[in-house]
Amino acid sequence: MVRKSVIYVCQECGTSSSKWLGQCEVCSNWNTFVEEAAPIITPKGLTSKKGHKLNFQSLRGETEHPPRQICNIKEFDRVTGGGMVQGSALLVGGDPGIGKSTLLMQVAAQLSSNLKTVYISGEEAIDQLRLRADRLGVADANIGLAAATSVRNIVASLDDTNRHDLVIIDSIQTMFVDNIESAPGSVAQVRTSAQELIRLAKSKGFALILVGHVTKEGQIAGPRILEHMVDTVLYFEGDRSHQFRILRSVKNRFGATDEIGVFEMTGKGLVEVTNPSTLFLGNREEDVPGSVVFAGMEGSRPLLVEIQSLNTPSSLGTPRRSVVGWDSSRLAMIIAVLEARCGLSLANMDVFFNVAGGLKINEPAADLSVAAALISSVSKFALPSETIVFGEIGLSGEIRSVPQVNARLKEASKLGFLHAIIPTLKRSHKNHNKESTTLKVYGLKVTEISKLEDLLVLFTQPSEKKIKTKENLEFLEQKHG
Ligand code: TYD
Ligand code: MG
Repeated sequence: MVRKSVIYVCQECGTSSSKWLGQCEVCSNWNTFVEEAAPIITPKGLTSKKGHKLNFQSLRGETEHPPRQICNIKEFDRVTGGGMVQGSALLVGGDPGIGKSTLLMQVAAQLSSNLKTVYISGEEAIDQLRLRADRLGVADANIGLAAATSVRNIVASLDDTNRHDLVIIDSIQTMFVDNIESAPGSVAQVRTSAQELIRLAKSKGFALILVGHVTKEGQIAGPRILEHMVDTVLYFEGDRSHQFRILRSVKNRFGATDEIGVFEMTGKGLVEVTNPSTLFLGNREEDVPGSVVFAGMEGSRPLLVEIQSLNTPSSLGTPRRSVVGWDSSRLAMIIAVLEARCGLSLANMDVFFNVAGGLKINEPAADLSVAAALISSVSKFALPSETIVFGEIGLSGEIRSVPQVNARLKEASKLGFLHAIIPTLKRSHKNHNKESTTLKVYGLKVTEISKLEDLLVLFTQPSEKKIKTKENLEFLEQKHG
């Protein structure tokens, strides 16, 4: 006879154990063990029952593209890859108060003109939802509201008798299934509730949007498997002290990832920002040392942002490195390369580094702009204000080429920039990099540099123009010993 027993499984790494453990011995995470029924394995193999044979299909076949629901909020549609797909599950994560409920209420209102839409909130009462809708000017939209947390009741309400097209669950951490004992928000509850709702969405063919909370570490709370279970994962991010918000796609089974949608939070809800570069460069002071404009790419869209550095003599044994919007270890690397390859030491200086507007950038293409901001701040020379900079820096001080050079230059030209500092393009390796042979400058004066040292030459004082590398270096040395 096969005895049924329980095992304990780590929800982070899948390690199983016969007894409960506080800390996983394999991945070292705490409180991740959950009781599960042990699989029944007989001496003959997985199970004594025989399975059905699979019917293999050929790769080519007649499969129609799934229909998409466009909500006319273009920034949202772009991030979902051209609209929500029927029968798909989408997870929207973000910090509390960032505007997830606001965004989804606006999306629901737009979609409700064609789709039968329900909004189920486990966090707010109906009155609160109504007040928000009123504030957003969508109070007349045809949305069914419910304040509920029981998955059993939700499943019962979404049965065949009243067909729905779009279901929004705000948030998955408040939902619970009554045959599991743990509290809502626990790993087992979140996983089972999501599984149940996604299964229902696939079988009934409605689009499901789940809101997910984000932990202190910045991941969607609950098991990581929540991200595996859904088709699309979007993060809604931004600095609460700033007005704008960014919707970023990190996983999409129906489109490209790394697309962003930019919104501005106003008194009347979220407003699309169709030209984000103008927003991020809006309050820029011209000809200020330490300020450089970086031409970045966010998915398919170029985005110009201002990078600022303020370097001051330090009175501390270990100087401060305060970084906002950029990876601090990448900054340390650039500081090290500047010291080793260009003789520019920041060892006695505090560095305050900021990406203006609260945007986070993680493209290595920003390296050269970061270096330019540091040099500019130390030397007190500003780059001419209508200059953009991009390029990746290698450890030997070489400047490496980056993707989508033409798109970056085009955006800069569109916004009235005149000068670009970019990596030297390898014209000899024709087959290596197709783009390099067809550089388009869009009327910009393009300076190609191949070594970090060459960047120093380009710094000008507002009064005198060009300063040679050596003189510039001497100037820097005099100034900072
Ligand atoms: P909310 O959508 O409730 O955030 P989340 O669901 O992510 O927790 O948004 C909350 C914040 O947005 C709140 O601090 C107020 C602000 N807000 C506006 O500025 N304008 C508006 O029109 C609305 C509805 C909210
Ligand atoms: Mg909310």
